[in-house]
Amino acid sequence: MNYKIPRGTFDILPESSHQWQKLIEVFRKVAHSYGFEEIITPIFEQAGLFERSSGESSDVVQKEMYRFTDQKGRIFALRPEGTAPVVRSYIENHLGKMALHHKLYYIGPMFRYDRPQAGRYRQFYQYGVESIGSDHPYYDAELIALLMDYLASLGLKNARLEINSVGCGNCTKDYELALKEYYKPHLPQLCSDCQVRYQQNPRRLLDCKVPSCKAFRADAPSQFDYLDAPCKEHFDELCKYLDFFEISYTINPQIVRGLDYYTNTAFEIIYDDLGAQNSLAGGGRYNALIEQLGGKETPAVGFAGGFERLLLALEHEKITPHQSPKTFIYMVMIGEDAQKAGLPIMRQLREQGLRVDFNPDKGSFKAQMKAADASGAEYCLIIGENELENKSITIKDMQSGQQESLSKQGLLSRFSE
Ligand code: HAM
Repeated sequence: MNYKIPRGTFDILPESSHQWQKLIEVFRKVAHSYGFEEIITPIFEQAGLFERSSGESSDVVQKEMYRFTDQKGRIFALRPEGTAPVVRSYIENHLGKMALHHKLYYIGPMFRYDRPQAGRYRQFYQYGVESIGSDHPYYDAELIALLMDYLASLGLKNARLEINSVGCGNCTKDYELALKEYYKPHLPQLCSDCQVRYQQNPRRLLDCKVPSCKAFRADAPSQFDYLDAPCKEHFDELCKYLDFFEISYTINPQIVRGLDYYTNTAFEIIYDDLGAQNSLAGGGRYNALIEQLGGKETPAVGFAGGFERLLLALEHEKITPHQSPKTFIYMVMIGEDAQKAGLPIMRQLREQGLRVDFNPDKGSFKAQMKAADASGAEYCLIIGENELENKSITIKDMQSGQQESLSKQGLLSRFSE
C-alpha cells in the first residue's frame, strides 16, 4: 500500500480503544459530579481566533498551527486547543445572558505541528473544562479538585500539582521591564526566536526550550515579586481553598504557560517519569480573554489534559484502564426458522445492554457451537428444531457446561438486571 498514517498521529485499534473509552467515561462521570456540562465545538475555526487568543508570539501560533484556506479563500485552522473555541461559542451563543456561571467540559482531538516524540503528537486528544463567570478563587480550586479526583479515580498515584500566579495586566508591565533588564546583557547569547520574544513578549523568554536560553531562566526575576495586592490576595485565597479541599501542591514561580491568555492562576500537573513531556495537564485563569475576543468582561478559569500522556503515566504505574465487561452471549440458530425466532430475541438482549453475537457463515450445529466456544462467550443460546417445537430456548453456561430450557420471557428476565 502506498498510503501511510501522517507523522505524529496514531490509530486507536480495537485492542486499546476500550482503554480510551474508559478514560472518557470516568472523565464524564467526574465532570458531571462537579456540575460540568458538555460542550462540543467544531475541530476547525477561523485562524484569527487562535492568533488573537493564544498570542501572536506563542509557539502555537508561530510554528504549530495547521492553517488552511478553504474554497472561498477564508483562512481556518485545525484547533490547537479548546479554550478559544469554547469562549467563541460562549460569546456567539450569548451564554452569559442565560446564566451567570457556566461550567463546561469538552473532549476531543487537537492539532499542533510540533516535532513528534513520546507524549507529543500532531493530533492528540484533550479532556478539558472551562468555568466561566466568576473570579472567585474557589472556582480555581474546584476545577483543580476535579482534575485531581479524575486522576485518582483512574488509580494514578504519582501526579504532582504545581501552582503559580502570573498576575494581571497591572502587574505584568513592571515584571516585563524587570525581565528585559535581566536579559539585556545576555541578548547576544539568546536564540533568534528569543531575540524576537525579547521585543514582543519578554515573558515568553522563560518558555524557550533551547538549552542555552533555558540556562538563564533560573536567575530570572520572579513574577511573584511583582504581583499587585489584589493578585497576591487571589493567590493566597487559592492556596487556602486548595487546603480546604485537602489538595497538596507546590508553588513554582517559574511556571510559564505556552499560551498568552493567562491571568492570575497558572498550574500544571507534573508526572516526573514522563521525561521531556511531563506535563499531564495544565490550565489557569483567563480573566481578560472573553472581553478581548469581543464579549463582555467575564472572568474564567479552566484546564486541559492529554489522554496520551495520561495513558503513558498509567502504564508507568502498571494500571490498565478497562471497562467492566458486558455479559457476552453467543447465539446458535440452526436454519432459517430458528433465525426468524432468534433474531428478535437477539435484538431485545442487545437493547438490554448485553453483548450478543451470531455467525451466519457457520451452517451446522457443530460449526456454530465451535464458533461459540472460540468467541469466549459466557453463555450460548441454542434454537434448533426441538426448541422451535417447544417454543423454548436452550441456554448453555459455557464454563460449567450446564444447560437449561427457558421460555422467551424467562430468558429476557434472566438477563434483565
Ligand atoms: P496546554 O498546556 O497547551 O493547555 O495543553 C494541555 C495539555 O494537553 C498538556 O498538559 C498535555 O497533556 C496535552 N498536550 C498539549 N500538546 C500536546 C501534544 N502535542 N501531544 C500530546 N499532548 C499534548 C491548553 O491547551 C489550554 N487550552 C488549557 C486551558 C484550558 N487553560 C485554560 N483552560
